[in-house]
Parts: sequence; C-alpha cells; structure tokens
Amino acid sequence: MNANTDRVAPEGARDRVAPEGARDRVAPEGARDRVAPEGARDRVALVTGAARGIGAACAAKLATLGHPVVLADVIPEVEGTAAALPNARAIRLDVADPAAVAALPQALDDWWERLGIVVNNAGISPKVDGRARPIREMPLEEWSRVLAVNLTGAFLVSQACIPPLRARRWGRVVMMTSQAARGKSVIAAAHYAAAKTGLMGFARSLASELGPDGITVNSVAPGRIDTPMAQGAAAGVNDAFLAQIPLRRIGTPEEVAEVVAFLASDAAGYLSGATIDVGGGSFMP
Ligand SMILES: NC(=O)c1ccc[n+]([C@@H]2O[C@H](COP(=O)([O-])OP(=O)(O)OC[C@H]3O[C@@H](n4cnc5c(N)ncnc54)[C@H](O)[C@@H]3O)[C@@H](O)[C@H]2O)c1
Repeated sequence: MNANTDRVAPEGARDRVAPEGARDRVAPEGARDRVAPEGARDRVALVTGAARGIGAACAAKLATLGHPVVLADVIPEVEGTAAALPNARAIRLDVADPAAVAALPQALDDWWERLGIVVNNAGISPKVDGRARPIREMPLEEWSRVLAVNLTGAFLVSQACIPPLRARRWGRVVMMTSQAARGKSVIAAAHYAAAKTGLMGFARSLASELGPDGITVNSVAPGRIDTPMAQGAAAGVNDAFLAQIPLRRIGTPEEVAEVVAFLASDAAGYLSGATIDVGGGSFMP
C-alpha cells in the first residue's frame, strides 16, 4: 500500500482504492517526485496584504480548505483578521522592506518548511481626490513607492519563499495583478498600471524558472472589486464603470478568492504562467 494513500484515505477506504503500484503504472517517468504527499494541512499558505479586502478573503478561503495560513500586512488589523480564522497566524510585514522579507523564515518559524502557497496580494493604488493622479503631476516618491509595494514586494517575497517550495518540489505562487494591466484604465494611475503590468511579466519569468521544480506561478487580474481600495475612488467613478462590465456589478473579494484557491490547488496542477481575469467580463482578450 502506498504510504501517501495511507495518510489521506479515511477509515475503511483502503479496500476501495487502487492496489499497490497503480500509480506507478500511469505516472510518467519521474512524476512521482512532483506529487506532494501531503494534504492541505501540510501546505502552509502565506498571503500578503491579508488584513482586509481581497487578501483577507483569500486567507479565509484557504483556511476553510484546511491550509494553515499566515496573514502578512503592515496594518495592525491583520491580528484581528487572523484571529477569526482557524489555524492562522498574523505577522507584521512590509513587503517592500528587504530586511523584513529576508526574516520570513524566522517569522514563520516552525511553519516555514511546510510553506507551499504564496499569494502576492499586497498592493496600493494612491489617488488624488479619488481619481488617478496625472503623470505630469506624479512625484517620483509616489511612483517609487507604488513600484516598491506592488512589484518589488512580490519579487522579494517570491524570491525569499523559493527554498521551501523547491525543497518539497511542489508549490503555488499567485500574483494579484489588475485589469489596469490588461488595457486602458480610467481609474488607476500610471504607476499602478506599470507595476501591475510588470508583475505579470515577472510571473511569466518565475513560472518558466520554477516549473522544473513542480512550482506553478499564475496571475489573477481582478476588475472592480468591493474593497477599501475600490471604495477610495471618487463618488460616481465606480458607478460609471458599471456600464463597462457585462455582469453590471462590481465583484466581491470572495469571488477573487475562489479563483486563487483553485490556482493553489492540485486541480490547477498543469496551469502555469497564465493570467486569469476576474472582472465580470470587463476585459476580454
Ligand atoms: N479592489 C479592486 O478593485 C482591485 C482591482 C484589481 C486589483 N486589485 C489588487 O488586489 C490586491 C488587494 O487589493 P484590495 O482591493 O483588497 O485593497 P485593500 O487596500 O483593501 O487591501 C490591501 C492590503 O494590502 C496591505 N498593504 C499595503 N501595503 C503593504 C505593504 N507594503 N506590505 C504589506 N501589506 C501591505 C494593506 O494594508 C491592505 O490590508 C492589491 O494588489 C490590488 O492592487 C484590487
């Protein structure tokens, strides 16, 4: 009997599963190395920007599925968000701070070696009076901070998390990009569009590099989603956007989290380097 099957089969189910060696006969040469023997509880998920909004929904969904979840954020609310979830921990982390990110192994402590899922969700989208700041008025400091959080932060966190994923030869990395990276945006400013477009390119490079280690890397591109970030848009901006959305409503954080959970699952094992649009049809390639 396969030891992996022993761990996941419920009492009495062993008689009903394929006899020993069945997996050997169908698995291509070397494929067994890429199959994770553990269940969800052995795949720790790290979600950045998880105190609220889409990140909090992703953390909740992954926790519901049985993953131990680390919620990382710069704001103190992350403690309360994590406290409401089963088997979850909160850490204070600025993803744009290289020293703080380098300390992730210590921050995750005994969970570090079980890390399997990384959701690079932390992001900022500064606005002026609820509208995109014109490029001609954009201070370099604001440009640099948006690139640092939305793009460099994902690079730093992904790079730091490669060792445990490679060691187990299984991993899932998800980038939270945006429809602002898929076409012209009337709401997001240039720095945000540049960072999110760069994030998609970074995801493709990472997918190419880590694929041989059994690690998939994909991007999720939400449209308008009802979170504090979207609520920061000026009155009427979200309403005006509705006419562009075939489903005629803005989305919920939970609807994005469902897609992230799928990408983090074994069901998405042959999906890598892709961008999944979750925008009610507002962008169709
Ligand atoms: N809401 C939308 O309509 C929408 C659309 C497309 C993409 N997105 C993207 O989805 C992600 C989540 O957005 P949201 O709408 O939930 O926004 P939000 O502002 O509600 O949540 C973002 C979270 O990221 C955290 N964060 C900010 N800077 C951080 C840093 N340096 N380090 C760690 N955490 C940090 C914030 O504290 C916050 O908890 C972002 O990357 C955003 O760009 C959102």
